Amino acid sequence: MKWIVLLGLLAFSECIVKIPLRRMKTMRNTVSGKNMLNSFLKEHTYSLSQISSPVSNLTIHPLRNIRDIFYVGNITIGTPPQEFQVIFDTGSSLLWVPSVSCKSSTCSTRRRFRHLLSSTFRSTNVNCRITYESGRIKGKVVHDTVRIGDLVSTDQLFGLSIEEYGFQGLPFDGILGLNYPNISCPGVIPVFDNLMKQGAVAEPVFAFYLNKSKQEGSVVMFGGVDQRYYEGELNWIPLIKLGSWTIHMDRISMRREVIACSDGCEAIVDTGTSAIRGPRRLINNIQKLIGAKRCGFKHYVSCSVVNTLPSIIFTISGINYPVPARAYILKDSLGYCHTAFKEKRVTTSTESWVLGDVFLRLYFSVFDRGNDRISLARPV
Ligand SMILES: *[C@@H]1O[C@H](CO)[C@@H](O)[C@H](O)[C@H]1NC(C)=O
Ligand SMILES: *[C@@H]1O[C@H](CO)[C@@H](O)[C@H](O)[C@H]1NC(C)=O
Ligand SMILES: *[C@@H]1O[C@H](CO)[C@@H](O)[C@H](O)[C@H]1NC(C)=O
Ligand SMILES: *[C@@H]1O[C@H](CO)[C@@H](O)[C@H](O)[C@H]1NC(C)=O
Repeated sequence: MKWIVLLGLLAFSECIVKIPLRRMKTMRNTVSGKNMLNSFLKEHTYSLSQISSPVSNLTIHPLRNIRDIFYVGNITIGTPPQEFQVIFDTGSSLLWVPSVSCKSSTCSTRRRFRHLLSSTFRSTNVNCRITYESGRIKGKVVHDTVRIGDLVSTDQLFGLSIEEYGFQGLPFDGILGLNYPNISCPGVIPVFDNLMKQGAVAEPVFAFYLNKSKQEGSVVMFGGVDQRYYEGELNWIPLIKLGSWTIHMDRISMRREVIACSDGCEAIVDTGTSAIRGPRRLINNIQKLIGAKRCGFKHYVSCSVVNTLPSIIFTISGINYPVPARAYILKDSLGYCHTAFKEKRVTTSTESWVLGDVFLRLYFSVFDRGNDRISLARPV
């Protein structure tokens, strides 16, 4: 979870009009993104033999798309169940929701867990702090029954936030981490690990289908992969760091020129991030190539350039994953267009990128705990 916090509506209109309408050279329509992917998919096919769950054994859980920034889904905690809206986040491992005793002002606008009303609730003495790219929480580790649709995780350890920083105005109650156990509070077994341990999922796999624009239609599925959500083959990519959804990326290119990740780099596949994030210098260079001008926290372009800008191509395990301008240019609520590229706030010694929802809307993604790999495919 390294989401972009949108605080209020800042008046950007003033600097918008100052952005010169930069004429982009019209691109020759060489290869369309879809065809390019098609031909690469034909050359690199892998069999799906290990993931063949019948659809009847899957839990397909609806997610609601909030302005193409957040994808939230409902879970319940406790007996009788109390409902919460959470982000299903492959970038973190802990499940947490606000505690009824949370004093931070941000908690007052969200649903809070009332532990006294749950007969299956158990407390612990463990306190825990979690820091995300855009906020942090301080809370207590507790146990209770957690339900995601028909999936039940009994005696699930999770966090109840007592203090929060940086969660103003966000349209969800908490976060359900789907990363490996490493990035969690001490001793806490994450929800998906518990579901695997308790035999609740047929296969140690979950997958995301994120629809663009439409509020409904997006899903996260647990226990297998529903082939109705993608076309062609799944392209498997091994993890390079056990204990995190991190893969190797070959390069990032535009107009057949490498523009980043020139010696290879790592990429974190993160459903809890909305943008594509990378090192500051490289992100700034991409903004320049797109002709975007900074204003406040974002880089803006004239909306009309969407039709002339080329795709940016992410090459992973030898396969090209084009991200067309209509995906990396987003329109805000005031009708202004900005890019979906953001610098990473946390710097690392190796070149590291975060592929967030902007990328994952274009590619159906499978997270395979059984084989420590990720797969990408063309969505339906
Ligand atoms: C979550 O539950 C609320 C009712 O509490 C419902 O209105 C909403 O549509 C649900 N969201 C999803 C994604 O199913
Ligand atoms: C679903 O998965 C469970 C657990 O692996 C298995 O026992 C059951 O037979 C499966 N059901 C179907 C319909 O395949
Ligand atoms: C996703 O959205 C498109 C339109 O934006 C729609 O045609 C398609 O059916 C949607 N997919 C699902 C599964 O709802
Ligand atoms: C995460 O845990 C796995 C197995 O428990 C271990 O092999 C791996 O090194 C850990 N990764 C990190 C980044 O700590």
